[in-house]
Amino acid sequence: MFVLVLLAALAAVTLYGAWQEAQTRSWRWGCLSRLALRRCSWGRWPMSWGHQHPAEAWLGQQADEVVGGPEGYMVLGQWDPPACTLLGSGGQGTVYALDLPSAPPLALKVISLREELAGEQARREVAMMHQLRGVEGVPRVYVHVLCPPMVIMSRHSGVSFEAFLTSASSPCDVLWVCASLCRVLDRIHAAGLVHNDIKEDNILVDRVEGVTVVDFGTMRQAGTRLLDPPEDSAAAHRRLELNKELHPFLCAEILLGHPCHPAMDVYAVGQLLLMAFTALQGLLSGPQEQHLHLLQVLQQTQDTLPLRPTMATLIELLESVMNDLPTCGRPAGHSTH
Ligand SMILES: Nc1ncnc2c1ncn2[C@@H]1O[C@H](COP(=O)(O)OP(=O)(O)OP(=O)(O)O)[C@@H](O)[C@H]1O
Ligand SMILES: [Mg+2]
Repeated sequence: MFVLVLLAALAAVTLYGAWQEAQTRSWRWGCLSRLALRRCSWGRWPMSWGHQHPAEAWLGQQADEVVGGPEGYMVLGQWDPPACTLLGSGGQGTVYALDLPSAPPLALKVISLREELAGEQARREVAMMHQLRGVEGVPRVYVHVLCPPMVIMSRHSGVSFEAFLTSASSPCDVLWVCASLCRVLDRIHAAGLVHNDIKEDNILVDRVEGVTVVDFGTMRQAGTRLLDPPEDSAAAHRRLELNKELHPFLCAEILLGHPCHPAMDVYAVGQLLLMAFTALQGLLSGPQEQHLHLLQVLQQTQDTLPLRPTMATLIELLESVMNDLPTCGRPAGHSTH
């Protein structure tokens, strides 16, 4: 009896270990995606891709399932990915490193929302990334898989903004990364879009690649709404209270259903820059009045709209503090953006 219990306990521990391994390190895709495929309903579209897309070559045999797509990315009806290593996950999806022969480093985002929402979410993320194609600091979309809803995009190196701050070695590096982040956002805004989900783990910081912004699930065209306005003031109050702790980077205007505006990203990035400024305290040399002014402007990012600084003001200020620091050039090894 004792031996049986011991064996059962050993089997349970082994199974749990294997499950953990699958969750955190690698995942054999075959069975999962085949299950998902059976649930998906997509008709077989005629192949309408006029010319060969580079992704067709990487995807090999699967390319006969190409169903079209505008110039720039390819749409596949379905695809059964090979084994992938986990890169990260969030509330809307799981992202894997995908390595295919002769392809650049790729990331595969599998949308993990409810079936009826996942397709629309993938379509939206692809559309946003496509609209931002060529923008430095934003992944390039290569393939939109309809079933199960997935996106294949360029893979970028880096640690989260928070991890970067913890390990940053010099004030120059921190200021440079902050300014680079604001510049990427400024370029996104110049394309008429608002990210709406700027937070530590949606930013990848790498010494060579610089700053990459990821996660376009809540991105919207400026002037359109992310959320519907609450029904009445009680509902508005409830929504604000609920999200205060849960989503501290979301400003009140987003939650109250105002049309999207770049100032919404200024609020979120302001929180990250304030975190960075706190990490820098005591390390900054140079004119103290200038640092105080920077702090003041960073605090204004948390004000209501008319008082909030613009992204351009933040960039200008960060650059002027960097210029006045002795020996503050661009950190060695960084790319240009
Ligand atoms: N193109 C990429 N290259 C490398 N890593 C990436 C890429 N895209 C996403 N990641 C990693 O995967 C993680 C999860 O991706 P993403 O933020 O898109 O998922 P999500 O479910 O939409 O997240 P959220 O909970 O913020 O909505 C990111 O935090 C990042 O670490
Ligand atoms: Mg995310």
